Amino acid sequence: MYFLSQEPRAINEQRTTNNHQRTTNNHQRTTNNELPLTDNLQPTTKKMSIKSKFDLTGKVAIVTGSSKGIGLSIARGLAENGAKVVISSRKQDAVDEVAKEFKEASLEAIGIACHIGDAEQREQLVTKTMEAYGRIDVLVNNAAINPFYGPLESAGEEVFDKIMNVNVKAPWLLSNLALPHMKANGGSVINISSVEGIHPGFRLGLYSMTKSALIMLSKNQAKEWGRYGIRSNVVCPGLIKTKFSESLWSDEKLVAQYTGVVPLKRVAEPDEMAGIVMLLASDAGSYMTGGVYTADGGYLISG
Ligand SMILES: NC(=O)c1ccc[n+]([C@@H]2O[C@H](COP(=O)([O-])OP(=O)(O)OC[C@H]3O[C@@H](n4cnc5c(N)ncnc54)[C@H](OP(=O)(O)O)[C@@H]3O)[C@@H](O)[C@H]2O)c1
Repeated sequence: MYFLSQEPRAINEQRTTNNHQRTTNNHQRTTNNELPLTDNLQPTTKKMSIKSKFDLTGKVAIVTGSSKGIGLSIARGLAENGAKVVISSRKQDAVDEVAKEFKEASLEAIGIACHIGDAEQREQLVTKTMEAYGRIDVLVNNAAINPFYGPLESAGEEVFDKIMNVNVKAPWLLSNLALPHMKANGGSVINISSVEGIHPGFRLGLYSMTKSALIMLSKNQAKEWGRYGIRSNVVCPGLIKTKFSESLWSDEKLVAQYTGVVPLKRVAEPDEMAGIVMLLASDAGSYMTGGVYTADGGYLISG
């Protein structure tokens, strides 16, 4: 329905008023030596070499679920490209350990524990990041859970509530908390979904539903926040060798079925998910928003 993809008139009218206010505010900001908001919409890369567009020096990135697995690889990639990275997961000792390893490798990082399903801890994650680094440019909503493997009809409501809370509600609310800080300079939200968010498998129904919802959250963020120079995109991994998916890749029969149909004939390593995030986080991806990108060895075109 085309009309639903347009902003309602009332909002447009309010925007006109806001634009007027913004012009006034921009004037005030300019006199305070701050960039006007509209500058976020200009390409920032005019005189940069293409290689340097990947450089994240001066940027601050939060990666949820980055004590191990895909999140850890993403965090390392961002830090190696110059970003100051907030390592986050539920356990403080685990994130401290990763931050220490990064520092020993001359990468900038701090560890801030956060159970993303907990409202107070989400607020603390953003507050402590601002206290430590003073800005937020990149948010990678990577942490997720899958507490249930089985047919839809045998899942309990409490499992549904738990998985929706962590996989959907938390990325929505954490992104909202980061928004006011990203508005200052523009930013990039990267939501880690799954091929299961696009194509249903067996016994992963609830997880699939949450990963589909995350894709639509990201598209709506892209549509609503583009005006602030904030981009939002989704990455959909295939089968990656991490703790999360161990029950799948340690099952020889299942792996044989998977590698039999997937064009690249193998399961992936976590580091193979980091490159696409480097692109989406940086100026190299400055015109990319609302996109859904697979890194699945061709799984979705198999069969
Ligand atoms: N592995 C795959 O095959 C695959 C495929 C498609 C998509 N994905 C997606 O990729 C993302 C990362 O998965 P992964 O395979 O890298 O998993 P993983 O190796 O198990 O790592 C998960 C990370 O998230 C943290 N975490 C778990 N629950 C959390 C919570 N409630 N709050 C904050 N942090 C939490 C874990 O640390 P703590 O336990 O210490 O909190 C850990 O750092 C997920 O969104 C997953 O759905 C994975």
